[in-house]
Amino acid sequence: MSADLAALVALLRGRLTRAEGRAGAEAAKVSGLLDRASAEAPYAASAHPLVRHLPAALAGLERDAPDIAALLGPLAQGLPWRYGYDARADLPDLHLNMGWAEFVGPAAPLRSDEVCLGLTLIGPHTHYPAHRHPAVELYHVLTGAAEWSGDWRPPGAFILHETNQEHAMRAGDEPLLALYTWSGDVVSPSVWSAPS
Ligand SMILES: [Fe+2]
Repeated sequence: MSADLAALVALLRGRLTRAEGRAGAEAAKVSGLLDRASAEAPYAASAHPLVRHLPAALAGLERDAPDIAALLGPLAQGLPWRYGYDARADLPDLHLNMGWAEFVGPAAPLRSDEVCLGLTLIGPHTHYPAHRHPAVELYHVLTGAAEWSGDWRPPGAFILHETNQEHAMRAGDEPLLALYTWSGDVVSPSVWSAPS
């Protein structure tokens, strides 16, 4: 992992200390697991079409979290952006408008089989339909007010999803860029709640 990427991950980890209550407890658990992730693996930039939303996301980030924007900006286009769901006939363009770049996880630059940390990017007005997964998930909105299972949440908000809790998101006028973590069963994938 490059020094620049390590600095970005450290800054993102620092954001987790702002979580309170149940989210704060999960953030503390995640932080302890992150301390145990050490083995490093190379990664390559992806050609994911999602990167076309990065300029607008970074513009929002410069307003909402300029310290993160300064570190993420030079790295953003070169991160391993990907999308891992089965195709949906009802949403044929979904894979073009949402995805994530993982920094820590089973197949990430910093390997761990017990914790994940990365960024989720969702294009404007994109609906990320209801889904669930065994891992406990903590989101922290960095930029882009969005609807989280019916509630509009601003930058700075933390959203916790317990094991197999169904959830969905819908981005607003700006791209949504959020920090996410997974703990627990981080190997089993996320699946759509309804048949596709
Ligand atoms: Fe999730």
